[in-house]
Amino acid sequence: MKIVHATSELFPYIKTGGLADAVGALSAALADNGHEVSVFVPGYRAVLEHKDAAGAERRLRLKIEMGDQFQSGDVRVFSPRKNLKIYLICREEFYDRRAPYGNGERDYEDNAGRFIFFCKGVVETLRLDDIQADIVHSHDWQAALLPLLLREAERRHGVTLALKTMFTIHNIAYQGVFPSRVFGLTNLPGDLFQIDGIEYYSQVSFLKGGILFADRVTTVSPRYAKEIQTAEYGCGLEGVAQTRADDLVGLLNGVDTAVWNPAIDALLPARYSPANMAGKAVCRAELLKRCGFAADFKGPIFGMVCRFAEQKGVDLVLANRDFFLAHECRLVVLGSGDKQLEQEMQELAAEVPHKVSLSARLDETMSHLIEAGSDFFIMPSRFEPCGLNQMYSQVYGTIPVVSRVGGLADTVTDADANDADGTGLMCDPNAGSLRDALQRALVLFSDGARYAAVQQRGMARDFSWRTASAGYERLYQESL
Ligand code: ADP
Ligand code: GLC
Repeated sequence: MKIVHATSELFPYIKTGGLADAVGALSAALADNGHEVSVFVPGYRAVLEHKDAAGAERRLRLKIEMGDQFQSGDVRVFSPRKNLKIYLICREEFYDRRAPYGNGERDYEDNAGRFIFFCKGVVETLRLDDIQADIVHSHDWQAALLPLLLREAERRHGVTLALKTMFTIHNIAYQGVFPSRVFGLTNLPGDLFQIDGIEYYSQVSFLKGGILFADRVTTVSPRYAKEIQTAEYGCGLEGVAQTRADDLVGLLNGVDTAVWNPAIDALLPARYSPANMAGKAVCRAELLKRCGFAADFKGPIFGMVCRFAEQKGVDLVLANRDFFLAHECRLVVLGSGDKQLEQEMQELAAEVPHKVSLSARLDETMSHLIEAGSDFFIMPSRFEPCGLNQMYSQVYGTIPVVSRVGGLADTVTDADANDADGTGLMCDPNAGSLRDALQRALVLFSDGARYAAVQQRGMARDFSWRTASAGYERLYQESL
């Protein structure tokens, strides 16, 4: 099949979260399976500076209609592996910035235009480069208008650019909602600014467009596919999601085992496998050292790596500060985002620097070291479409402590409730229930044999993208 992806993040070129990992691994797996895969990404500064993009070919000049103006850009292409092409939609004014969405304090003012330009750039490239896609698969709000803009361009030009379109919701909490004047930039017919179009309480909703106008809609776990059709998790779009119930499926993400695999992980000081866990102790020692903790510490290390956002339940961990003060354990946190949460975590780390460490930055190497060197990984998300770190944790023999929501519930089994097949500890997304799970973690850690059994079961689970990508292949085939 000829498969086109459009995404605003792609590992290893640009990443703020799991979207990058998911699309990076899925597109690579599809290419390895012999499909002809093209991935479109905005030509952000970080991507253009990546060594793979150094020899990118300038393929096309673009002139994109944006309301009553035309804006220019260009398209560059490179191929990092067989069957895989990366297309960069470039326009310095929009994408030559340090971060993809905002300056750390606020989102960029021109995000609507930036991502409309991106989607239109994809459509224009499909047309001018005569790609003839079987499937055009777009991801999250930034690329959500693509199915609609593509069908509109086909109508205008009397051509077929894609046989089927697919849209994946990686997180329904981020919707790309903008003032109504943004509608003009889409150049879509006025009747689409209505309740059964992309109008949303007098504003424009990009995500709604993806959900309504793609041929098939997926999200990243079976449980989240159900959750987003409820008021509790639908973030206002539950009714819209319900209208697509028949075409909406949840396909679990996987783990890219070329990147996240303790047996070959070059970012670690030592490697290990289920049969030989000695390297994990080396990683633990390195983690203690990096955090400035005593080297001879024998108790449990709790790790946490996440965006500091309400979703991730960082505040629930902070609400349990007494737990970390009272017990002989360590807490290692890597993450940034919400300034208030960062400050509170920093205060805790400053109060007990021998027990709690915060690295408030993006750090790929440190994220691997935390996965490998910790004994438990905490992820008490309020909602979690899929979540990757709880899978990475199991693969790295680090027992996940997670809330029972979304993809976490689909990928972790509670070890206290399931003696024979548990791989983690589960709680509800509130401080009291998390505290109970943390207490149970101490109990589990004190029983070496049982801890090792839970650990080995996690490491034996198959989260590889081979399985995950097969689900997408089936769906593509089915919709064609
Ligand atoms: P989300 O996409 O909601 O942020 P996921 O669990 O799907 O959550 O994916 C998060 C990804 O981002 C993981 O690969 C995780 O290791 C990574 N990550 C999060 N915060 C950081 C950080 N501060 N430094 C490095 N990697 C991070
Ligand atoms: C989103 C979700 C996360 C998911 C990731 C990749 O960012 O928050 O749960 O794992 O996308 O699909």
